[in-house]
Formats: sequence, C-alpha cells, structure tokens
Amino acid sequence: MIRWAPIGSSKLSIFMRELLLCPPDYYGIEYEINPWMSRARGAEAPLAQKQWKDLHATLSKLECKIHLITPQPKLPDMVFTANAGLTVGKKFIPSNFRHKERAGEAPHFARWMEEHGYEISWLPENLYFEGEGDALFGGDALFCGYKFRSDIQSHRAVADMLGCLVISVELVDPRFYHLDTCFCPLPDGAAVWFPAAFDEYGQRAIREHISDLIDVLPEEAVHFCSNAVVLDRDIVLPEGAPTLVAALRERGYRCHELPMSEFLKAGGACKCLVMFMPQRQAC
Ligand code: ARG
Repeated sequence: MIRWAPIGSSKLSIFMRELLLCPPDYYGIEYEINPWMSRARGAEAPLAQKQWKDLHATLSKLECKIHLITPQPKLPDMVFTANAGLTVGKKFIPSNFRHKERAGEAPHFARWMEEHGYEISWLPENLYFEGEGDALFGGDALFCGYKFRSDIQSHRAVADMLGCLVISVELVDPRFYHLDTCFCPLPDGAAVWFPAAFDEYGQRAIREHISDLIDVLPEEAVHFCSNAVVLDRDIVLPEGAPTLVAALRERGYRCHELPMSEFLKAGGACKCLVMFMPQRQAC
C-alpha cells in the first residue's frame, strides 16, 4: 500500500503522469450505442468545448503532462481516449471496438502511439476490447470488465501480452457498460465502485482483492462519479456526487468537481476523456 508523504515533501509518485486527450472538435451525438445516447438530445457544441477546456485546464494544473491527438471528422467519440487502448510501460494494446461506429478510431490512435515511441501489440481481430475504459489496475491486479463492450476472451490475451494478473468482472447494468463508469481504484489501495453494476461473482472478486471499498449511491452513480481521473491525491470527477466527494476529502484527497453534462449525453465523463500513458510502468 502506498503511504502518503506529508504535504510539501517530495512526492511519492514514481514517475510523471502522462495523459492523452483529444479535443472535441467533431464531438456530437451522431449515433446511439449506449443507453445514454439519443440523437434527439444532441450535445451543445460550445458548452462541450467549454467543459472539455475546463477539464484540460484542471488537469494541466496538476502534476502531469498532457498530450493531444488531432481529432478526426466523422469520429465524434474520439474524444473518449480512454477507449483508445491500454498502455503499460512502452507497450500499447489498441482497442478492437465492438461498434463499427467507433472502429475507425483505432488506426489513428495506433499511429499516434507508434509515432510517440510505443510498441504496438494488436489483439486478434475477433476479440473485442475497449482499452482502459474496461481495464483498470487496482493494487497488483488488472481489473477488466466484460459483456457490453469487451469480450472476456480478450482478457486472457491481454494477460498473456502483459504478463499480469487479470481479474475479469462481468458488468450487468447497460448504463454502466464500461468498467470505468462504475469502478475507480485509488492509490491508497482502496477503490470507489457502484456494486450493483457487477454480477455477484464480480462483486465477490472485487471484494476479495480490495478490502477497502467506497460504495457509490445510485443517485450519484448516474452522474458517473466513479468516472474519475486520479492523480495521486487529486481526483478530477464530474459534479453531482456530494456524498462521494465528502468521503474522498475525509481520506485526504483533493476533489475537483467539473460539469460534464454534454459528455454524459454520450455516456462519458472525466475519466473517459483521458488515457494514461502508461497506466502502469510494469505489471
Ligand atoms: N459514446 C461512447 C461509447 O459509447 C462513450 C465512451 C465512454 N468511454 C468510457 N471509457 N467509458 O463508446
């Protein structure tokens, strides 16, 4: 377990966090591939721009380096870089998107990562895998969600490629279709989660590996409060979860709450808009 250094002393974090973001120039609700999306309820472009810029500005003030990939026309969900793939050390595993609407993003992300010195490890084409959106390290284990987007079979392939312990958990609520919408590991060994988003077996697996779990209330879960970017003691999360924020502050975290209404319309929020490069240095 990581123990916090006193404020002001040298940081315990081992490396400078690098994040990949994609400006929302072509963002919009142009198709419906999850229960939050409705073409009848489009995102307001200027407000989406503002919310994304506020996220960018908030992250920029924290200890991390931000990279931007050039957005591409006709790929409105490319803003959600958490689904680009999974990066561990210098290895990048590109996503195999389940929906054809997003499949066009994959070559852009792979090319960008390759140009930036990452080694690309492709999964077999027949295995759907949606990257960091469905794969989050907690302690020594890589928790991987499956059913709505990623296939459970992709987890074995990811484990083999990385040589890490993978714990597969089934997602059961279509509103929480990616793991990062309902699960957020914290650096002190705890995790934020919405238990009802997992089947019983998945709940048990998470409880077995993480003893310190912070349950999210259903009324806060729908604001995607688990969809948080955690940078040491700073947590950037969507507004609308006062109970969770109080619990996190109690534990010594600094919470940065941001309006995310326009991205929630696509079924995304803070964490979906960010991919860690890498998420871990090694397994
Ligand atoms: N509209 C996008 C989709 O359905 C949202 C992706 C959200 N990303 C995430 N990591 N949860 O694929």
